Amino acid sequence: RAQEVVFSGIQPTGVPHLGNYFGALSQWVEMQNAPGTNRQLLYSVVGLHALTMPQDPKKLYEDRMNTLASILAVGVDPQKAILFFQEDVPQHAELAWILNCYSMMGRLKRMTTWKSKLAVKEGSQSSDIIDDSGLNLGLFTYPVLQAADVLLYRTTHVPVGEDQRQHLELARELAQKMNRVMKNDFFPLPTTIINPAKRILALKGSPPQKMSKSAPDPRSRILITDSAAEIHDKLRVSHTDSIDPESLPEDHIPSLDELSPNVANLYTILSCCTGEDVSTLIPRYYRRRYGYLKADVAAAVDAKIAPIRKEYERLRKPDGEMWLREVAEMGRERASAIATQNLAQIKKHLGI
Ligand code: ADP
Ligand code: NA
Repeated sequence: RAQEVVFSGIQPTGVPHLGNYFGALSQWVEMQNAPGTNRQLLYSVVGLHALTMPQDPKKLYEDRMNTLASILAVGVDPQKAILFFQEDVPQHAELAWILNCYSMMGRLKRMTTWKSKLAVKEGSQSSDIIDDSGLNLGLFTYPVLQAADVLLYRTTHVPVGEDQRQHLELARELAQKMNRVMKNDFFPLPTTIINPAKRILALKGSPPQKMSKSAPDPRSRILITDSAAEIHDKLRVSHTDSIDPESLPEDHIPSLDELSPNVANLYTILSCCTGEDVSTLIPRYYRRRYGYLKADVAAAVDAKIAPIRKEYERLRKPDGEMWLREVAEMGRERASAIATQNLAQIKKHLGI
């Protein structure tokens, strides 16, 4: 089998934003285009994960297609990578069930994503007494399904954004545990490939959160299909800080860490778009009004995503939809072939 197996997933929550693009999708394309290794790539749109949030069926269907089109538009080649819908390969759910039986409640309760969903019970003094009665079980076991996605293909490398670090730690623990239970080194321990320099923050909000598809204000994120006008508008109203740049000392050029998070984020985005180091960029804009930086970030983002937007629009025409279905079917077949074989071995090792 391949020396390296790469798996990565994205939720079908609509068109990806710059955080998804720089944190994950651009890595997907880089890994695909890196020369010469014996590497199996699997990229998945994870619809089962999306069901942990309330969804409208018609919109979810559209979002799934939009997400697949976005992945193709950024440059993933369905000949080089196995590109598929997680929900088309039932072995993901079957392995998730198996892994659930080896996952401890206490461990899952400590996941920060779960904790962030919990409300402190009204009137309670202690944050230990929390109210989980209105949360669905899928949300609780979400990281186990994610571990199943990864382990099903005996994945060695997982390119994801910074926010997924803890989930991948759980996948490694489960791989070790299952290997002990099965008395077999079946699962390699998956390595996480994270570029922390590419964590993108929302354009609005304090304290600044990561850019996300679920934040209520749509102007807090730039989608990879936004028009030039939308990009400029969103950046124009983006948050910076209340410092007057023209009043800053001339003799000290700050590093990225010394800037306020919202301003640093603008430099990060610019650097991601142009490939220039932030240490080159900061002296160029430092002590100038933020409007200059914002205008150049907008232009750089537009230059970066204009070809993606164009390809996306082509794929979302009626002819494109046929191609999307073909891609999904091809991916389903190839992913299923591996998944079926691996799951059969796992079950044999478990005695079921
Ligand atoms: P979201 O968090 O917006 O719902 P997903 O959970 O589908 O998006 O994440 C898809 C990928 O994008 C994951 O690898 C995740 O780590 C990455 N990602 C999401 N948001 C950001 C961000 N703001 N900066 C960097 N990477 C991100
Ligand atoms: Na996420």
